[in-house]
Amino acid sequence: MAQKIPSSEITPEHIYLSRRKFMTGAGALAATAAILGVAGCNTSPTAPAASGSNTAQSGAPAKSQPEAPAAVQPQTDELGDPLNTFEAITNYNNYYEFTTTKEDVAAMAQGFTTSPWQVEVGGLVNNPKTFGMEELLRFEQEERIYRLRCVEAWSMVIPWVGFPLRKLLEEVDPKSDAKFVRFETVFRPEEMPGQRSPWYTWPYVEGLRMDEAMHDLTLMATGLYGKDLLPQSGAPLRLVVPWKYGFKSIKSIVKIDLVDKIPVSLWMAAAPNEYGFFANVNPAVSHPRWSQATERRIGEFGRRATLPFNGYANEVAHLYDGMDLSVFF
Ligand code: MTE
Repeated sequence: MAQKIPSSEITPEHIYLSRRKFMTGAGALAATAAILGVAGCNTSPTAPAASGSNTAQSGAPAKSQPEAPAAVQPQTDELGDPLNTFEAITNYNNYYEFTTTKEDVAAMAQGFTTSPWQVEVGGLVNNPKTFGMEELLRFEQEERIYRLRCVEAWSMVIPWVGFPLRKLLEEVDPKSDAKFVRFETVFRPEEMPGQRSPWYTWPYVEGLRMDEAMHDLTLMATGLYGKDLLPQSGAPLRLVVPWKYGFKSIKSIVKIDLVDKIPVSLWMAAAPNEYGFFANVNPAVSHPRWSQATERRIGEFGRRATLPFNGYANEVAHLYDGMDLSVFF
């Protein structure tokens, strides 16, 4: 039952993704926020760029909100679907370190300490290095509008801000025997009550194959809607891999290691028959407990067809040539 993407939906890559490059240098996000006419770093979500009423969905923004220049803030993804609102994106979250109740994550994560923050990058590299967030914000920050498809069969369209993971990996100069990248979330049970639960092997771990990690679509996100990430979204730094189920997009990363063996993720350890390493969005392969053929786009009624590789097949299908994707889940 593999689904074909109509050729009308296949758009050349250069116009396919939103790739507005914001700027390079310290304070990039703050300046980005200024361009968008929204509040600066680490402010509360009370005045987001499109709070409550997504400009894409509701027309004019509220009077009190300065209007973002249209060229800076597009209203749909490349398939023509509207962005989810800032409020939807930041009030319906999976973040098991806090709670398994999506609607409660935002409140429980409020006040989580996201500064100072460091990310240790090492393993099979010639130039291991610990990066402070200020250094990571010196990478040119780009806006990327991606679909996020959760393995639970809901999805959103999110305007992320961040930089390609490739740029970070190039800084540490991977050795030739580095085959995979292993990511680790912060372990802070005093602030993250879910990490006191014995059900999972904490900290949250995820992994990518080296070519997946170096792919241009693979993003280290530092913001969304032109604002710093909020804690519930994985502040201050999370991964976004848009062609894979959302659980691969690990939040609040503090450690990145290049390794020669497939990393065992939290989900592989918890339920290997349900959550595989590759986890490419595939409508033809059901989860053992539900179909993946359709999904519920948050904010819409009814269900829509799920696209192979979440609509990014043109960009990434070649990475898996020769692999039986019904087996290598
Ligand atoms: N990262 C950590 N550390 N902990 C989590 O529980 N949940 C994952 C992923 N990253 C998760 C995580 C899942 S299942 C999904 S669908 C996405 O985050 C959800 O991202 P969002 O809450 O920003 O929509």
